[in-house]
Amino acid sequence: MEFINIAIDGPSGAGKSTIAKIIAKEMGYIYIDTGAMYRAVALKMLNLGIDIKNEQDKVIEALDNTEVDIAHSDEGQLIFLDKEDVTGKIRTPEVSMGASAVAVIKEVRLKLVELQRILAKKNNCIMDGRDIGTYVLPNAKIKIFLTASVEDRAKRRYDELLEKGQKVVYEDVLSDMIKRDKNDSERSFAPLKPADDSILIDTSGNTLEKSVNIIKSIILDKIGK
Ligand code: DC
Repeated sequence: MEFINIAIDGPSGAGKSTIAKIIAKEMGYIYIDTGAMYRAVALKMLNLGIDIKNEQDKVIEALDNTEVDIAHSDEGQLIFLDKEDVTGKIRTPEVSMGASAVAVIKEVRLKLVELQRILAKKNNCIMDGRDIGTYVLPNAKIKIFLTASVEDRAKRRYDELLEKGQKVVYEDVLSDMIKRDKNDSERSFAPLKPADDSILIDTSGNTLEKSVNIIKSIILDKIGK
């Protein structure tokens, strides 16, 4: 049986995960958050005390003993690191920066891409990330590239972190986001960029409902349901 894969890429905070999660649930597809996998690897390296940027060889060495897996619950995707559920531990500013740093390492990407492709082969899915349309699933049925102004994205991320009870300053969230955008789009292997055949959507100023409706209608149009 051939499964339908939908790729949603774009920079941090464009709304990919929130939107993809809602639409996947409505369609009965699984939602795969690939960013969580990079975050889990980053958490492992931080726990080991590895300076990710300056000790890439140590990251690569530790990778062999690093097990990343996902499962699904009513609340969405759960992420496991070495069999421990780390879903709640990966959403901190430190892990965000670490994820962007491990994501430049080719060996890390190859390991996680393998898992992503296996999941896509076995499920109707909406997969969100940075390189899904360009590299992970070049034959995805639908490719969407979601973006928004960096200020809009930082504000969303800031509100999310506050809601989770974390103490953050908007200016710090904004400057982290600018750094991550640069890291993610300038790396040499599988950088953040729209696939040639992707549909570009700018969510700046949109309500969540409006963005969901726009994307849902594109998807339903394409798969004819
Ligand atoms: O989507 P996110 O913010 O959880 O992603 C965390 C980091 O992981 C992001 O800065 C870049 C990296 N990433 C990636 O390089 N490729 C992906 N497919 C997903 C995430």
